[in-house]
Amino acid sequence: METNLYAQLADSLVEQIRQGVFRPSEKMPSVRLLARRESVSISTVSAAYELLERRGWVEARERSGYFVQSRSEETLSVPKQVRTRPRPLPTTLSQLVMEVQRGSITEGANFSRAIPSSDFPIIRQVQRTYTRLSRTQAFLGIGYDTPEGLLVLRQQIARRAVDAGVFAPPESIIVTTGCQNAMAHCLRVVTRPGDIVAVESPCYYGQLQMIEALGLQTVEIPAHPETGLSLEALQLALDKWPIKAIMTVPTFSNPLGCNMPDENKRALVDLLDRYDIPLIEDDIYGDLHYAEQRPKAVKAFDKNGRVLLCSSLSKTIDPQFGIGWIIPGRYFEEVVHSKFVTSHAMASLPQMVAAEILAQGAYERHLRLARETYRQRYQFIVERITEYFPPETRVSRPEGGLVVWLQFPPQVDTTKLYHRGLTEHIRIAPGELFSVTGKYRNCMRLNYALAWSPEKEEALRKLGSWVKEAMDEA
Ligand SMILES: Cc1ncc(COP(=O)(O)O)c(C=O)c1O
Repeated sequence: METNLYAQLADSLVEQIRQGVFRPSEKMPSVRLLARRESVSISTVSAAYELLERRGWVEARERSGYFVQSRSEETLSVPKQVRTRPRPLPTTLSQLVMEVQRGSITEGANFSRAIPSSDFPIIRQVQRTYTRLSRTQAFLGIGYDTPEGLLVLRQQIARRAVDAGVFAPPESIIVTTGCQNAMAHCLRVVTRPGDIVAVESPCYYGQLQMIEALGLQTVEIPAHPETGLSLEALQLALDKWPIKAIMTVPTFSNPLGCNMPDENKRALVDLLDRYDIPLIEDDIYGDLHYAEQRPKAVKAFDKNGRVLLCSSLSKTIDPQFGIGWIIPGRYFEEVVHSKFVTSHAMASLPQMVAAEILAQGAYERHLRLARETYRQRYQFIVERITEYFPPETRVSRPEGGLVVWLQFPPQVDTTKLYHRGLTEHIRIAPGELFSVTGKYRNCMRLNYALAWSPEKEEALRKLGSWVKEAMDEA
């Protein structure tokens, strides 16, 4: 059985369910029929159905076959793609962003930050490894680490990159203090102040902040809620303006959680080649996929070194780890130099710990547990959103990651809701943060990865009632 074939078949069945060819509770074609129709083996069709079952699209009924799930979130629609006319704009959102960053995650009900849960066994394992290595390894008095980072860690990163379809020798990888730090080096290297950078819209606000801080302009390219960055809109923008770089989170974007299909990732690389332009790929959520297979990175299709792939352990383990990396392709020397002039080298102990953790089977087991936990927590929060929020609420269908995106009718102002929430120790990420166009003031992002609590339940109920109030007032 070809592994790709069953995943492709599953994707095509999802598309048919989405388009209403098969409706909730309807019977899907039998395994035999589908195998004949698609000219594939019975085991390929069975594997595709099992994948759909795990992803929550179909359910198996004994001796009756597969039926389309009537998923609770299907009662709420997917967010609409917001049409913007892309144009270069200065970026000025920093005050609100910094306010949201400062909120404590342990007090009140905090849905605002894209952070992972800390209730996994891997956290204790990291602590134990720190303790053991700090006693047994020389990490003080050994001078500076090399600017590229510790080779044993780069070897482990190279091994893991293969899962994303990226074959990069350890010597082509640079360790950083996180993904934000990684992207900042890349952006500094590929742009000069005043340049225009294309990003997806809605966009992870950390990228917008970076663009602002480096004196660059942003062109926001609309993203489809299920397939990500619109390549048609990107091409129009590339024809119209002298865009110097593209930044995107193609695999489980933040805030939409969508995954760009492989054919779009390939087509995106074709555009990079055609326009001779670099892409800063943020792959920080790639390992947190809910489907069986990890999606490929855009970098997997990059033959000419134009993609600078950035990632970290902040979402898969913990941001406190402070370990990220870059696979910068043809920009290797400039990026190492950027790291050297800003931070010389990193501390060795966290790198040694990260190398050991990544080398163990426990990390893979942790990822399996984390993916399943987050998938279930997503289902859980959507059930509550369906209960507490008005039916006009639209909700994203993340295929991986930690956050869900809600879209309300235009009269709902989530920046107002954010300020109201603060008075009751409820924190959300208002939609305004995710664009410089002001287009998402009727949206909000919520973290669903952290453990649930009665306080959160109450907070979500209040948020839902405030949204209803805002709709009634208008
Ligand atoms: C898409 C995305 N990229 C990068 C970061 C920052 O990563 P790090 O904490 O590794 O610097 C975040 C954190 O929220 C994120 O959501």
